[in-house]
Amino acid sequence: MRVLVTILISLVLLSCNSSEDTVFEAVSSNGLLKLSFNLSDEGQPYYLVTRDNTVVIDTSFLGFEFKNAPAFDKNFVIKKSETKTFSETWQMPWGEQTDVINNYRELKVMLQEKVSPERFLNLVFRVYDDGIGFRYEFPEQARLKEVEITEEHTQFNLTQDYKTFWIPGDWDIYEHLYSTTKLSEIDALKYVDHVNLAQTYIPENAVNTPVTMVGDDGIHLSFHEAALVDYSGMTLKVDTENLNLESHLVGSRNTDYKVKRSLPFYTPWRTVQIAGNAPDLIASNLIVNLNEPNKLGDISWFKPMKYTGVWWEMHLGKSSWDYGMEMVDGEWVDTGKAHGRHGATTENVKRFIDFSAENNIGGVLVEGWNTGWERWIGFEDREGVFDFVSTYPDYDIDEVVRYGKEKGVDIIMHHETSSATETYEKQQDAAYALMQKYGMHAVKSGYVGKILPKGEYHHGQHMVNKYNNAAIKAAKYEVAVNAHEPIKATGLRRTYPNIISREGLRGQEFNAWAEDGGNPPEHLPIVAFTRMLSGPIDFTPGIFNIKFDEYKTENQVNTTLAQQLALYVVIYSPIQMAADLVEHYEANPEPLEFIKDVGVDWEATRILNGEVGDYVTIARKERLTGNWFLGSITDENSRDLEVSFDFLDASQEYTATIYKDAKDAHWNNNPLGLDIEKIMINSNTKLNLNLAEGGGCAISIIKN
Ligand code: NOJ
Ligand code: CA
Repeated sequence: MRVLVTILISLVLLSCNSSEDTVFEAVSSNGLLKLSFNLSDEGQPYYLVTRDNTVVIDTSFLGFEFKNAPAFDKNFVIKKSETKTFSETWQMPWGEQTDVINNYRELKVMLQEKVSPERFLNLVFRVYDDGIGFRYEFPEQARLKEVEITEEHTQFNLTQDYKTFWIPGDWDIYEHLYSTTKLSEIDALKYVDHVNLAQTYIPENAVNTPVTMVGDDGIHLSFHEAALVDYSGMTLKVDTENLNLESHLVGSRNTDYKVKRSLPFYTPWRTVQIAGNAPDLIASNLIVNLNEPNKLGDISWFKPMKYTGVWWEMHLGKSSWDYGMEMVDGEWVDTGKAHGRHGATTENVKRFIDFSAENNIGGVLVEGWNTGWERWIGFEDREGVFDFVSTYPDYDIDEVVRYGKEKGVDIIMHHETSSATETYEKQQDAAYALMQKYGMHAVKSGYVGKILPKGEYHHGQHMVNKYNNAAIKAAKYEVAVNAHEPIKATGLRRTYPNIISREGLRGQEFNAWAEDGGNPPEHLPIVAFTRMLSGPIDFTPGIFNIKFDEYKTENQVNTTLAQQLALYVVIYSPIQMAADLVEHYEANPEPLEFIKDVGVDWEATRILNGEVGDYVTIARKERLTGNWFLGSITDENSRDLEVSFDFLDASQEYTATIYKDAKDAHWNNNPLGLDIEKIMINSNTKLNLNLAEGGGCAISIIKN
C-alpha cells in the first residue's frame, strides 16, 4: 500500500493569559477557508470561519454541561497552541475512488480554567479546502476523571437565511422525507404525527445530519459529524430567529446524562463541508479524511458486488418472512399450520442464484430464513424471539450454500435483530461463526422497532456502541456489515472497512408500502447532496416493474425505469442490489444489460453537474477494467443537460450504450418509456441528456 505522509509542525506558542494580541487561526491550503479561535472577555471559547474573506460561520461559542461537575463554558485561558500542516494520500480498499488526498492545516488550542477546579480542555480544528472539522479533547488530568455530559453546546452561527434540505432530529430513525425550507422556517415538530414508522422520537425543533444549505451567493454548506465512537449522535437544534444551530445530543430515558466517558477521550469531529457549488459537496472527502486509517488491514475477503434477494417480494406481499410456526415452551415448533407463502425456501433461493449467475451478479440476500418472524414487529416482548442459527424447515442452508458455490454466487446473511439487542449480542459469536463456516462474508442487519432495553434510542451512546461493536466483532469472523435502521454513517468505513454500506434513509422499500405514496421524484436528488455525503447507501435500486399493480394498486415507484438504472452510478454503495423480482427482470432483458454491465467498485468519480434537490450527473471509472459508467437523475422536472466526456482517457475509443427516457416518458404517465442507443464516443464527445419528469439516463462506456 502506497501512503505518503508529510507533517509539518510549524509553530508552538507558549502560554499567554491574554489572547488579545495573538491570533489563533488556520487557513486551508488553497487559502480560501480561514478558521479563527479565541476566548471572550469571560474566557468563553469561540471560533469563526470565513471563505474568501466573507464570514460563513460568525462568532460561535463552544462548551459543555455536566451532571456531576461545573459546566465548561467560561473562565478559560489559553495555555498553549500548536499549528500543523498535514498531507497524505491514502488508498480506499473499495470505494468511490482509489486514491484520497488528505491535506489539512490544524490548530490545536490547550485551555485551562483560571478558577477552581482548574480543569483542562483541548480543541483541535482542521481546515481543508472542502470544509472544516473540529473536536474536543478531554486530556488526562488530576481533577477530572470521568464526565457525565448532559449537553454539548457547539454553535454554528450562520449569516444567511439559507435554503435548507433537512429531516427532523429524530432520535430513533432517519427514514423521513426531506423538507426544503428556509432555515428560519424549519419546523421539525411537524413530523411528529408520522405514519409508516415502527419507532420515532422527535423532542425538539432540531434536524438530523447531514443537513445541507444553499446560500443566495452560491455557497453550499453541509453540517455533519465524523468518527462517531462511544458518544451520542448529534442533532442540531435550530434557532429560527437568530439563524443559529446548536448541538443537541441524543439522550436516554435510563440516565440523566447523555454521554458518559472516562478521561482521556475525545468527541467525534463536528464537520462543515463548504463548497462554491453543489457537485463539490459530493466530491468532498472530508468525512472519511477525519477518520483514522484502516485498523483491519487486508480485507480482500470482502468483494464489492451486485446482489439480488428474497426481499422485494416480501415488501410487495408476494411472499412472507415468516413460515407460520408457533412458540411452545420457548421453542419454535412447526405445528403443521404453515401458510405456504414463506419466501426463503431452498427452491426460491436457487431461482435467485440461477438468475444472479446468469447476469454477472455476485450475491443473493435471503431474508426470512431463520425462526422468529412470527413475532418480530409490534411485539413488546421481543427478547429471545429471533434466532440467528436456526433455519425454518423449508430452508436447507447447506444445500443453498453448496449450490451458490457451484454457480459462483455468495449468500448474503440477514440478521433482523428487531432491536432486541441483548438477544443479538448473546448470539453474535455463534451467528458470525456460522457465517464463517459457510464462507459468507456479508450480513445485512436490521434494527426495526423500539430499542430493548426500553428507554434507549437508536442514536444514543448506548446504541452507537452496539452498532460499532457488532461491526468490530464481525470483522474477526471476516464478515462485512450492511446495517439497516443504523446509526448514521460518519466515515468509520475508513477505519473499519468491513462497514460496507447501510440504510439510514427512506429506502426503496417505502415505495412498496408507504401510506403517503412513497418517495417523491425529488427524494433522490436531495439524498445525493445530504445523506450520501455521509457514506454508502443501501438504497436497493433497479425496480423495473414500476407500478407493480399485480401486487399493489395504491403504491408504485415514482421514477422512470431509466432513472432506476442511473441510480447504480449516482447512489454509491460497494454492494448494490438488483432489487426487483426475477420474473420482472426476465420480462425486460434489454435494460437488464445495464445492471449486468455496471461496476460496483471505482477508481475515480466525477460529479459532472447538479443542484441540490434538482438533478445530478455522476460518472465513475471502474477499477481493473477502466470502463466508465454514467448516471444522471432529475426531480419532477424534465431537464436537458449537456455533458462533456472530457474525463475519458484521451487516446481511447469507447462504445457507449445509452439508456434514456423516451420522448414521452414520465415518472407517472409513462415510466417504462425507455430508448436504448449505441454509439462510439471519446474524450471529445459532448452529448445532450434529455431527462423526463422523474427521469434519468444511464450510460455504460466500454473501452473498444
Ligand atoms: C427493514 C429493512 O429496511 C428492510 O430492508 C428489511 O426487509 C426489513 N426491515 C426486515 O428486516
Ligand atoms: Ca428500513
